[in-house]
Amino acid sequence: MTALNGKVMVTGGAGYIGSHAVLALLDAGYQVVVIDNLVTGFDWAVDGRAAFVRIAVEDPGVRDVIRQHDVKAIMHFAGSVVVPESVSDPLKYYRNNTAATRTLIESAVAEGVPHFIFSSTAATYGTPERVPISENDPKVPINPYGMSKLMTEFMLRDVSAAHPMNHCCLRYFNVAGADPEGRSGQSTIGATHLIKIAVEAATGKRDSVGVFGTDFETRDGTGVRDYVHVSDLAEAHVAALKLLIDQPGESHVLNCGYGRGFSVLEVLDAVDRVTNRTIERKLQGRRPGDPGELVADNSAILKTIDWTPKRDDLEGIVRDALTWERKLAERQG
Ligand code: UFG
Repeated sequence: MTALNGKVMVTGGAGYIGSHAVLALLDAGYQVVVIDNLVTGFDWAVDGRAAFVRIAVEDPGVRDVIRQHDVKAIMHFAGSVVVPESVSDPLKYYRNNTAATRTLIESAVAEGVPHFIFSSTAATYGTPERVPISENDPKVPINPYGMSKLMTEFMLRDVSAAHPMNHCCLRYFNVAGADPEGRSGQSTIGATHLIKIAVEAATGKRDSVGVFGTDFETRDGTGVRDYVHVSDLAEAHVAALKLLIDQPGESHVLNCGYGRGFSVLEVLDAVDRVTNRTIERKLQGRRPGDPGELVADNSAILKTIDWTPKRDDLEGIVRDALTWERKLAERQG
């Protein structure tokens, strides 16, 4: 383990991706303090080995948390993540993502936190001119969600140039699955993501799955995405942290995906194979703002950080998501 003389503060650590990052950090031997306002997260999702403080990232009290827990790195997951909602309520996204993060970064700078890892997104690219997409391709977000994250990337770039902090922005592609040991998973109420929706259908929570668009320029006409297992993504954060510790003064922006895509119909077929049942597909028109294909060029992340994806297997991703969904159904009675 690359040593850090203090704790890692994980914002949004009671949420889906954040709770998996907490597990990966603890499993790697780091000490963790989670902050979360529990608006969408669940306190039971925070591993008992981590300290937990219920506070919003923009609260000035975060500076006390940083001091009290001797925080030496921040992994920032907290934020709003629903793309269509960002279109209807853009100011919520500029408040919860951009403005709240500005205050968090200010707290970090004031307390001299040397490392910052940020949850960015492929939505910063908008509709790509080519796939796979590489980091230097044009960033023209087509929704306020993507713009709110891109603005944060710009803030971090400028802050790292002005203050003794380095950072890594990880641009996630489509995150799915659950901890293979069943310790966490996606519990979000009212989730809109394809694999989550499909496993809800497989467990009887829904009757069918809508297929949004069948006329894209893809192999079967449905949208193609680069689905990444959440535990691989969490491990990428730990590897990024090690790099930031080992190379102070160097910052990075990296795509996080496997570099291959599956269509909506291929995903639903995989769910059928795993469950031995057939989900009803309802073919529909396109969802506004959906690009046809988003696949990462992941060559930069593979050569920059010490990360070897271990779970690049669509059926495995579906199986872990399904196991968690069943557990969640028991919990919710
Ligand atoms: N889809 C369906 N039916 C559904 C849900 C989704 O057909 O019920 C389709 C979508 O149209 C798309 C694909 O499945 O083609 C994946 O959709 P998701 O909603 O699962 O994910 P997105 O690609 O829209 O969004 C994800 C992240 C965003 C991020 C975006 C761009 O959730 O946070 O990728 O990287 F901004």
